[in-house]
Amino acid sequence: MPVSGKTPTPHTAVPHERSNWSAARPALAAAAAFVASLAVMLAARRWLDPVLFICVAAALLVATSAFMLLRARREASSARSEASIAINQSGVNEARMMAIIRSSMEAIITIDEHQRIVLFNPMAEQVFGCTAMDAIGASLERFIPQRFRAAHARHVEQFGVTGVSDRQMGRQRVLSGLRANGEEFPIEASISQTRDGGARLYTVMLRDVTERVRAEHAQQRAREELRELSANLQNIREDEKTRIARELHDDLGQQLTALKMDISSVEEALGGSASELVRDHLQGMRRLIDATVASVRRIAADLRPVMLDDLGLIPAVEWLANDFTNRYGIDVERDIETGDARFSPAGATALFRIVQEALTNVARHADATLVTLSLRAGDEGFVLRIADNGRGAHRNGELAGKSFGLLGIRERAHMLGGAVDIQTAQGNGFALSVTIPAEAVQMQELQS
Ligand SMILES: Nc1ncnc2c1ncn2[C@@H]1O[C@H](COP(=O)(O)OP(=O)(O)OP(=O)(O)O)[C@@H](O)[C@H]1O
Ligand SMILES: [Mg+2]
Repeated sequence: MPVSGKTPTPHTAVPHERSNWSAARPALAAAAAFVASLAVMLAARRWLDPVLFICVAAALLVATSAFMLLRARREASSARSEASIAINQSGVNEARMMAIIRSSMEAIITIDEHQRIVLFNPMAEQVFGCTAMDAIGASLERFIPQRFRAAHARHVEQFGVTGVSDRQMGRQRVLSGLRANGEEFPIEASISQTRDGGARLYTVMLRDVTERVRAEHAQQRAREELRELSANLQNIREDEKTRIARELHDDLGQQLTALKMDISSVEEALGGSASELVRDHLQGMRRLIDATVASVRRIAADLRPVMLDDLGLIPAVEWLANDFTNRYGIDVERDIETGDARFSPAGATALFRIVQEALTNVARHADATLVTLSLRAGDEGFVLRIADNGRGAHRNGELAGKSFGLLGIRERAHMLGGAVDIQTAQGNGFALSVTIPAEAVQMQELQS
């Protein structure tokens, strides 16, 4: 595989001090010879002997020059070897860098200020399906889908102005690349900038995330399908409960009432001829029928209170709260203010079931003496809040377990585009708030 581009060459520092020192060398040698000759003359007390002065000066000049020449050679050779080490070092660095770039699992593309490609590593060749030979010198636009080209060029320019050395690209969205065969694919990329002499270079490191994006989409789709399945099952369950509750209430209830009337007829027919024992039996049967009718009503109401369908959400919630107080002896303070809202059957069912599960939880877990239940129409929709003064729960412990009540509440709220908030702490009660957009739970006005 050919070297897929050129890397910026490192600069070598020039030793300026040394060159100044070489220029001053002859003058220094002459001055040293002159001073040394004067010293010799002074020491020999032969001031006026010119021949001797010239001989001594010449000898010293030659000796000093020879010494300095030798020293200069030594310095030059050590400077040469230092420079060659620096060059070797930079060569080693460059080779190492190229090896990293070549073997990188990420595609690496370096572009100049005009967006021309100057480096294209083997992984880039593989990802884009294009050889480095073809890519180098071409514009980066070749690998960006047409509709993103202008925006991309702007981003790179802006990035150049910021002076930031590197950053992730397209943090909010998945970016797209364009293969040589025209296929678009999702990428994840980061960009960095460097200066090579006066020129600015941008290096983009990117990876093909087609598989990841596909897996994320599949996961998202599976989650949505599960949600739909769960919503569908809830609806089926609700329909079934409604049907059974109706049949229990109407059918069985009516038959028991008819049985009670039959007993009265038998009593009447027997008149005074019935023995004490028979009359007691008939009385007992009537009491048993009354108790059975009450049980049937309770079971039917637990399944789904008929008044939820017949009278609507608010009376059904009132009934639920009263029933809760009668069963468990825990007071429920109510604050219901929904104006003239008319709830849709699905909205009413969802809100009713949420209140029911929250109250069941109070009875099962809270050890409370008071519950406050409020349902109000606010700016963001309806806010339902059920709070108790009981023992509360550990946010991360108990709430994260394998239980389905709170999960069901979340699902119901989610189906209606709402949100759930839980405020609780050990020993500090438990407050569940559900906010649901008004239009999701209200009757839609019929368009005329
Ligand atoms: N009002 C409350 N006070 C104290 N703890 C509560 C309250 N409501 C819920 N919890 C805690 O949150 C946990 C989860 O509640 P959730 O309704 O999801 O499950 P569950 O009631 O245990 O079982 P189920 O699936 O039958 O509803 C409970 O086990 C309990 O520890
Ligand atoms: Mg529960």
